[in-house]
Amino acid sequence: MSIVLGIESSCDETAAALVTSDRVILAQHIASQDEVHRPFGGVVPEIAARAHVERLAPLIAATLADAGMSLDDVDAIAATAGPGLIGGVMVGLVTAKALAMAADKPLIAVNHLEGHALSPRLAEASLEYPYLLLLVSGGHCQILLVEDVGKFRRLATTIDDALGEAFDKSAKVLGLGYPGGPALERLALQGDAKKVPLPRPLKGSQEPHFSFAGLKSAVLRAKQSGEHEDADIAASFQQAAIDCLLDRSKRALAKVGPVNALVVAGGVAANKAIRAALEGLAAQHGLPFIAPPLTLCTDNAAMIAWAGLERLARGQSDPLDVAARPRWPL
Ligand code: KG4
Ligand code: ZN
Repeated sequence: MSIVLGIESSCDETAAALVTSDRVILAQHIASQDEVHRPFGGVVPEIAARAHVERLAPLIAATLADAGMSLDDVDAIAATAGPGLIGGVMVGLVTAKALAMAADKPLIAVNHLEGHALSPRLAEASLEYPYLLLLVSGGHCQILLVEDVGKFRRLATTIDDALGEAFDKSAKVLGLGYPGGPALERLALQGDAKKVPLPRPLKGSQEPHFSFAGLKSAVLRAKQSGEHEDADIAASFQQAAIDCLLDRSKRALAKVGPVNALVVAGGVAANKAIRAALEGLAAQHGLPFIAPPLTLCTDNAAMIAWAGLERLARGQSDPLDVAARPRWPL
């Protein structure tokens, strides 16, 4: 059995976790910066980087203490090396390099998106490659065929906004503050999804991609018209987003070869209505539906440790001069 210390700092969550190759999360800490960025209505990169600097070292110490371990007990140190806000990524990666050097342990530079993409395998031991993955977060909206560690085929991406971004921007229009996705989902529960006519961009289109900019603009117009209840706008927006997601996923399932499961990951996978819709789609195709528990869907370090474990098991590690990458497509 191997144990990896994972570190995540690519956006506005500072996180550390100790995970075993037997899929046990021995300890983890996540410090959200929501409060820090709320006054600005979005993540301010420089402020985020400074907050990571303040929080990361005590958070790693607390994670090790919770597990009753020291660095001597870990087999490798894995950190997000991109993509993300470069200041934050550097804080986590440089910390990991220092720890790896001091403790003489291998360093594993993890792609944050690979962390999300492999997290369902941490949650679900039975999940085998290949699987079809919807990766839906604040920065990403992709359909991927996950064939193996480091082996992905991107079947669709967004031509404008990511789904989480559309949730966040629509929530802002409705005065729900930041981050808006969870608040919009709560408001949608009180609304009628049929009340506000909203577009389903690219639905039925022959091309594989997503588009959410038109939907977001339609939400703004619906709000400005003053003709609708906010809850109805929220419910109608969420339904339109789900319709787009289902349509694009159906298309991908029809095009791709045999897969073992339909899997959703990324922050938006925390949305219960979206999970339910995708579960229905998977059932129609006779596929298991796998979504990691909510705590593994939003940014966390356990998924980074897990990606590190999968790489370690294949004998992979990285040199101490590995670079942080603000852009790093899968
Ligand atoms: O994966 P994540 O934590 O960060 C990255 O973007 O990498 O995803 C955050 C995104 C935000 O846009 C947030 O509003 C969205 O996930 N989100 C949700 C929900 N919970 C988080 N969107 C819709 N419904 C939710 N319940
Ligand atoms: Zn993320």
